[in-house]
Amino acid sequence: MSNGDSGNDKNDLQKGLLSIIEELKVQPGALLPILHNIQSLFGYVPDEAIPLIASTLNISRADVHGVISFYHHFRRTKPGTHVIQICRAESCQAMGSAALERHVKRILGIDYHETTKNGKFSLEPVYCLGNCACSPSIAIADEVHGDMDAEKFDQLFNYMLFTPAKAGAL
Ligand code: FES
Repeated sequence: MSNGDSGNDKNDLQKGLLSIIEELKVQPGALLPILHNIQSLFGYVPDEAIPLIASTLNISRADVHGVISFYHHFRRTKPGTHVIQICRAESCQAMGSAALERHVKRILGIDYHETTKNGKFSLEPVYCLGNCACSPSIAIADEVHGDMDAEKFDQLFNYMLFTPAKAGAL
């Protein structure tokens, strides 16, 4: 029996983490840029990153944890293939985002910060996507969709069901 693939995955993860940390460690306030770059590369901040960051920056693991949990932007688990973000800020709330939220949660069968069992969808709250004129807004793979309602969401959902995720687009 071989676990070669998972061994390679672990090595790739470690190499990727170290290369980001080494490159950015000299920046003033290096912790946030490091976390952003790790999430950008892996889609989340893996557990393995915490001790590496802490020892390189000479801070405690608790400090790293504290920053990650303070910013809701950072994910601690691998996201689904499609990451759906619903805007919960004022303009979108005024235009019915709460009803949209309920609909999306019911369709996906998950709450915020969760991923469907098949690993296909993750749901996250977001606070203003800069698209207030077309509230309510959602983002999928960082692409913003405005004037969203249940019907439009269902169309996007059906499209995603049969489409592999592409970076930056549905
Ligand atoms: S409040 Fe939702 S996009 Fe600005």
